[in-house]
Amino acid sequence: MEERRGTWGSKLKFILAAAGSAIGLGNVWRFPTYTGLHGGAAFVLVYIIAVCIVGIPLLIAELTIGRHTQRNPVGAFKAISPGSKWFIVGYLGIITGVFILSYYSVIAGWVVGYVFVTASGSFKGGDEELIRRIFEVVTSNPYIPILLLFIVIAITTYIISRGVQKGIEGWTKVLMPLLFILLIGLAIRSLTLHGAFKGIQFYLSPDLSKIDSMVIIGAIGQALFSLSLGMGTMLTYGSYLSKKEDIFSSSLWVAVADAGVAFTAGLVIFPALFTIHGLSPEEGPSLIFKVLPVIFSKIPGGLIFGTAFFILLTIAAITSTISLLEVPTAYFVDEKKWKRWKSAILLGFISFLLGIPSALSMGGVKFLSSIPIIKIDFLSLMDIIWGNLSLIIGSLLIAIFVGWKWGVKNAVDEIESTGKKFALKNLWKVLIKFITPLAIIIILLNTVYNYFVK
Ligand code: TRP
Repeated sequence: MEERRGTWGSKLKFILAAAGSAIGLGNVWRFPTYTGLHGGAAFVLVYIIAVCIVGIPLLIAELTIGRHTQRNPVGAFKAISPGSKWFIVGYLGIITGVFILSYYSVIAGWVVGYVFVTASGSFKGGDEELIRRIFEVVTSNPYIPILLLFIVIAITTYIISRGVQKGIEGWTKVLMPLLFILLIGLAIRSLTLHGAFKGIQFYLSPDLSKIDSMVIIGAIGQALFSLSLGMGTMLTYGSYLSKKEDIFSSSLWVAVADAGVAFTAGLVIFPALFTIHGLSPEEGPSLIFKVLPVIFSKIPGGLIFGTAFFILLTIAAITSTISLLEVPTAYFVDEKKWKRWKSAILLGFISFLLGIPSALSMGGVKFLSSIPIIKIDFLSLMDIIWGNLSLIIGSLLIAIFVGWKWGVKNAVDEIESTGKKFALKNLWKVLIKFITPLAIIIILLNTVYNYFVK
């Protein structure tokens, strides 16, 4: 068993893989999109709090369950709590993974498309109207987005079916820092644009009256999404973790790197956004694709840097898609004894089919681009259901499981089985047992109340 599943070579390799899963479109695309939709700095503030009281405690919890059981999410709950119904949380995670993969790969596909558009020099003049039209050309016809979706899923499936993701994740060591350096460079350019101040204010000076239950739900959802939590991804990655590695310090590294990239992405997008005519923070999923090209057109070597940027972002997205596909694949391999390649291809194919409506929801099909009554596009709807609600519910159940069913004492024993003391163990115990689940329950009840009672 141990041999067939394999373990991470070292702590650094593990951190790189986990950071590879965490850092992706969630940081560069989703974080600015949600920050823009939910009122800017107020959202950022709640997001940071959510990372501390929900994100990090849960990251520790998932890794600990994984390392303890050395299993996929379904098997892990069965191992700790045999005979109970807790394994359903594992199934919820597997389904969520397939759905997130479906629309996530659509956006990753746009990024792939933008590698070519940027390289062709189309953004050179920096004509803002043209830049907006290019987004439509890439996304609003029925063929290109589906083809791009297919390419992303095919690459992901290939990597997972060969079981070579650990080789790929070695790249993270060089490429993620490179992406980060590029982001910092772009942030400097964006911050020095004429008229950037309004964006800085929007992004960094919170208007606390904007904080409502949708902002809090969005921010908790973003913290979970960005750290790949709530559906067993980190649990699965923890299951490949050797008993020697320190879970607490690894978690902090991953969380700081992840939040750092997201924060920097915001520094790139918002200052520039406010200098662009006719673009508002509430742009939605297309936001970064309309802002980034404008910045590239205003830096020397923009064509090269822009192309490099989208290539790096593609790779960051792929290290995340493989972590999404790994969860259901690990389930079929461990529990159903399926061949790895067979599981990966079947699940990849299902995700591709599920992704098609999202791919058509930026104008390709009218009904999907603005669903009647709720008036949002299908892709955004999928993200709300699977990327927010399902992760929040999954996280709540995982916190209750660790805090009350398995027990914080057993969890701390597992964390400390390395021989190293868990310095903040009392704080963590209180968080995972009370604060994390209560924060989630209160906000869920509040939303239900707002929607159905008020
Ligand atoms: N965290 C990744 C990102 O920010 C996406 C991702 C990978 C994910 N695995 C996940 C999100 C599991 C939620 C759950 O791009």
